Amino acid sequence: MAERSIRVRVPGTSANLGAGFDTLGLACNLYNELELTLTHDPGLTFDIQGEGAGRIPEDERNIVWRSIRLLLERTHRDREYRGAVIRMKNDVPLSRGLGSSAAAIVAGLKGANALIGNPFNRREILHLATEIEGHPDNVAPAIFGGCTISTVKGRHVDTFAFFPRMQLHFVVAVPDFYLPTKKAREVLPDTVPRADAIFNVGRVALLVAALMKGNVPFLRHALDDALHQPYRAKLIPGMYDVFRAAGEAGALGTVLSGAGPCLLAFTIDGEHREAAIGRAMQQAFAAHDVKADIKVLGLDTKGAHIINERPHMHESEGAKSHGGLH
Ligand code: HSE
Repeated sequence: MAERSIRVRVPGTSANLGAGFDTLGLACNLYNELELTLTHDPGLTFDIQGEGAGRIPEDERNIVWRSIRLLLERTHRDREYRGAVIRMKNDVPLSRGLGSSAAAIVAGLKGANALIGNPFNRREILHLATEIEGHPDNVAPAIFGGCTISTVKGRHVDTFAFFPRMQLHFVVAVPDFYLPTKKAREVLPDTVPRADAIFNVGRVALLVAALMKGNVPFLRHALDDALHQPYRAKLIPGMYDVFRAAGEAGALGTVLSGAGPCLLAFTIDGEHREAAIGRAMQQAFAAHDVKADIKVLGLDTKGAHIINERPHMHESEGAKSHGGLH
């Protein structure tokens, strides 16, 4: 049987959005692309460009491959397809709180699923992706696009995806250090004071309502958190100073993106404050000796999708025509 290649594009994501710890997420217009070929012969070939090149493992530990393998096992196709050619072009910064691992997982699942005839629908892909990632709040927007509210009950994962009724922009400060999610979760307490739980219940309800209604004044009040950001602040030098600086420069509010260390400031279209907010965030980080890049992003509304599909080329042809993940 001929081997086929497929190309998948998956957005980066920001989880939590302040009060919605492990629950809320959004997809942004920053993408990783995977070109995947499943091979009948065992063996893995990698070509990783862009973010994470040289750091991402190029062997059995690779998370794209682990996701592909899980999908093949669950569909009993793992004896048929025992290896892969994995070419990636990554724009999502690695291990910074913009959903790089979710993007890798979803890319692997989506690509392999398409190559074997789409046995799983998006909800089933969500279950597999959550099983690998451990929580749904990054994988859900990576799959569905837009904003997502995800819940987990036992092994059942549900996601409600919606588009906010306002044109949001995100000014993201990307510090020049990595923060593994595992480390950022270790600092969190197992139990929280009731007052903090109530604080978050109110904020998260208000945040969803404000996004759905396009209510800017309420959105300003909703971007705060008591469940994870206060504990993680010690891992991100100057976090609250950056929040303050972004607010003074005109941001509606600023949150820790996922487990960090990226910080994400919300603005709305037409105010043209992104450049000033970005500068203010960068300067506030610099005062704490942290170098940060600034990205101005918008919402992705499409989620993971297949770009094209074609018969697998031989290496010599591939060198000419594959080069083409850009
Ligand atoms: N909800 C997760 C966390 C997102 O904050 O730990 C990180 O992947």
